[in-house]
Amino acid sequence: MVSDSLSINSQGHLAVSGADTVSLAAKYGTPLMVYSEDGVRRNCRKFVSSIQDNYDGNGLALYASKAFSCLEMYRICDSEQMGVDVVSGGEIHTALKAGFPAEKILFHGNNKTPAELGLALDAGVGRYVVDNFPEMELLDRLAGEKGVRARVLLRITPGIDAHTHDFIKTGLIDSKFGFTLETGEALDAVRRVLKKANLDFVGVHCHIGSQIFDIDPFEHAALVMLGFIRKIKDELGFEPAELNLGGGFGVKYLDDDDPEDFTEYMRRVAAVVKEKCAEEGLRVPFILIEPGRSIVGAECVTLYTVGGVKRIPGVRTYVSIDGGMADNPRYILYQAAYQITCANKANEPRDTYVTLAGKCCESGDLIQENAPLQRVEPGDIVAVMTTGAYNYSMASNYNRIPRPAVLMVSGGKERLIIRRETNDDLLRLDI
Ligand code: LLP
Repeated sequence: MVSDSLSINSQGHLAVSGADTVSLAAKYGTPLMVYSEDGVRRNCRKFVSSIQDNYDGNGLALYASKAFSCLEMYRICDSEQMGVDVVSGGEIHTALKAGFPAEKILFHGNNKTPAELGLALDAGVGRYVVDNFPEMELLDRLAGEKGVRARVLLRITPGIDAHTHDFIKTGLIDSKFGFTLETGEALDAVRRVLKKANLDFVGVHCHIGSQIFDIDPFEHAALVMLGFIRKIKDELGFEPAELNLGGGFGVKYLDDDDPEDFTEYMRRVAAVVKEKCAEEGLRVPFILIEPGRSIVGAECVTLYTVGGVKRIPGVRTYVSIDGGMADNPRYILYQAAYQITCANKANEPRDTYVTLAGKCCESGDLIQENAPLQRVEPGDIVAVMTTGAYNYSMASNYNRIPRPAVLMVSGGKERLIIRRETNDDLLRLDI
């Protein structure tokens, strides 16, 4: 199974943290997203304890909430001693409404608006990752107007290829994000931020991509960034205290996927950082990391009810479900691989190959092609696994399809954390 939270119970049904998914589908309807709260918390703890164990607790793990943002996720992160990374006024608002402490929020984004920065400054958001010069000017001016100070890290584009999908490579020189290292822009940014009256420059940030399985690119990024810290110290006589290495740790979508355990990542990166600091005569920096997918990705399955099954001899079999690209646009966007299973026939062999088709009025609305599945018929429940990250958060109302309900399961007991959108909800903004 792609996650330890999944099992097959005595009835041959797929279970999430002990809860029978077929019963959940009957009780709450489909499409339905079922998260393992136990799994999410286990992942949070892994990140927090890996910093304790390998880095003397001198750091903070921040959940990158773009992966899945809702009130309950911020409450869980708070109770697990994590910070959060937010990328919009909407995420800040949700975090604050959940009672998340503002000082443990870090604000990202390549085009933060004046309204978003104003909201963050009023709330006392703890860190800003400044992405570009106009934003630096704007933040300094707004902080001055409000009579507050902003703690700033600068987003650096370190030029590292993390061998991942082209669309989600963000650390390369050709990137909309951050200040480029190679061109001298990054050092110039430090020079300028140090002169800002209302900004406290505390560190540097990089993020090299997403769904990365190897540890090497992270080690490499840490070395490049420490090299930059050394350069800042030498040329500007200032040593930033914080190093943020971003997120990007891979998860299992398919049984064959083999991501490195995060504990191993932190062990190796911590060793490289400490060694390089000793070599370069630098203080060991406070470390920040921003895992998103690896906290929630593999801890959720989406359940759908099978409608039509269309067999085209010699071509393929389409299995139509009551969801699709509106709740999961990742196949249409990235050709993302998913493992699928029939939740009510989980013990039977997956010996047919099908195209799982969504219900949107669009041929490309597919969730998976040529994927092994049990023999299914109308009324069966199909589970798509590893849908916890960037699914609900990227969902839309295309074709005026309401968004699914979302459950969290702990110790076999479920609770609703996001109710199903209704047709009336779809009208709430219409005039
Ligand atoms: N920090 C920064 C600055 C980021 O840009 C991201 C993700 C993260 C942290 C979290 O990365 P993670 O640990 O989740 O890999 N929609 C795409 C993924 C986009 C990732 C964007 N940035 C997908 O569905 O695969």
